[in-house]
Amino acid sequence: MTTAGIDAVEIRTGNLKLDLAETFAPEKDEDPAKYTKGLGLHASSFPDAYEDIVTMGANAAKRLMDRKGLEPEDIGRIDVATESAFDHSKPVSTYIAGCLEDVYDDDFHHANKGERKFACVAGTQAIDDAVNWIQAGKNRGRAALVIATDTALYARGDSGEATQGAGAVAMLIDEDPDLVSVDPVQGFGSADETDFLKPNQQFPSVDGKRSMQVYLARMREAMMDVESQRDLHPDDFAVVPFHIPFPGMVRKGAALGFRHISRGTDVEEELAEEIGMQPRLEDFEDEEAYRDALSAYTDDLTETDRYREWYDKTVEPTLGISRYVGNWYTGSVHLARASALREARSNGRNLDEQKLLVCSYGSGAQAEIHVETVQPGWEEEIAALNVEEQLRDRYDLTFEEYEQIHDVHNYDESTDIDAFTTPEEEFVFDGWGRMGERKYTYVE
Ligand code: HMG
Repeated sequence: MTTAGIDAVEIRTGNLKLDLAETFAPEKDEDPAKYTKGLGLHASSFPDAYEDIVTMGANAAKRLMDRKGLEPEDIGRIDVATESAFDHSKPVSTYIAGCLEDVYDDDFHHANKGERKFACVAGTQAIDDAVNWIQAGKNRGRAALVIATDTALYARGDSGEATQGAGAVAMLIDEDPDLVSVDPVQGFGSADETDFLKPNQQFPSVDGKRSMQVYLARMREAMMDVESQRDLHPDDFAVVPFHIPFPGMVRKGAALGFRHISRGTDVEEELAEEIGMQPRLEDFEDEEAYRDALSAYTDDLTETDRYREWYDKTVEPTLGISRYVGNWYTGSVHLARASALREARSNGRNLDEQKLLVCSYGSGAQAEIHVETVQPGWEEEIAALNVEEQLRDRYDLTFEEYEQIHDVHNYDESTDIDAFTTPEEEFVFDGWGRMGERKYTYVE
């Protein structure tokens, strides 16, 4: 079978930043540690007045195409994953292709374009689609562009407000990829849930606490589905990127994941001397007692050196970027992968041919867990990212400015303000056309 996967990645953050500890927490009369330690977030990124899902996606895609020396004729497919679309019919990929056609000589008229929707897991689903397209031999030597782009905004005062974020991740999916190949092993955990949804509304209806339980339940199912195909062991994986709604959620997901993949292995035996063997359902009279024992075991597990070493090596490095940008919905797990590879590179860690266990999730709800193999070109690819510069250059909002920019992006408000930053060499939103379509220009 043809080896296919992610050949290159680009990250584009919104140009504004809200500091959660310094700016948000005091306004909410809350302890900054709730954000920095509890949720694990320091800042959120926001789109300026001229930015949206199209500009962020197109800017990421353009940098990727320029860097890889690609022309539109090299791309056979453009899939956008988003849950912030502003049109029920015309896909965001057509807007992004339109932007790119303004700056390249050629066009994307022979590329298949679409939009993928399943909350935050849609970015991973779009990668699966592109890999399948290549492995089915339908790509005619061309690559696919997968762009995960979202403005993850909540209504003001909603419990999710602290976890907001905005940004795009563009990925080139190709044969013989330079970054990671996608292995065939895939597990799913999927159920009809109403924990987080947007029924014809811009901002989500969220049952925050329940959404965390649903995240863990679907992850557990997906893990079991993978285990039905192959044995798992904690030391099999160099990096375990999770979907990151906020880093605190990943702490919980990682403990569940480790418990699963160490069950029945030498690691469980080794830990038994300290914290006993894992509880087994058949040893309990009812499910509630079993769940309580499992939760107590998990608490003890996270205090062990064995677990902490595993977590610090495989999970903690995935959180580096998210701590400063918040939830990017569809892009979030792909930021996690990039973040870990970036940290590995700066620490001189050799990841060639190492395995990643990628744990994606979308509310509503579905988890997908799959395996990837790091390819020898990964360091060069990761070295090309300019995410540090982007994070550093963001405009730091006051709370009043945050309220204004939130209103600018709220469809129910008609707030019009001057942008806080000056666009440079980027696509910008430029008003509405005669049929209500959004229009864009490239600013030199
Ligand atoms: P909340 O009520 O604002 O926060 O809601 P909290 O009181 O639960 O505190 C958060 C954590 O901080 C807790 O940690 C506190 O103990 C701790 P935990 O007990 O859970 O480990 N804390 C402190 N720590 C240190 N010092 C302190 C302090 N104070 C408190 N002083 C909630 C939090 C997540 C519910 C909220 O932010 C929310 O509704 N978020 C949106 C929903 C969400 O992100 N759900 C996650 C799972 S669903 C998902 O991932 C899908 C999603 O990405 C969408 C999609 O798929 O499309 C959201």
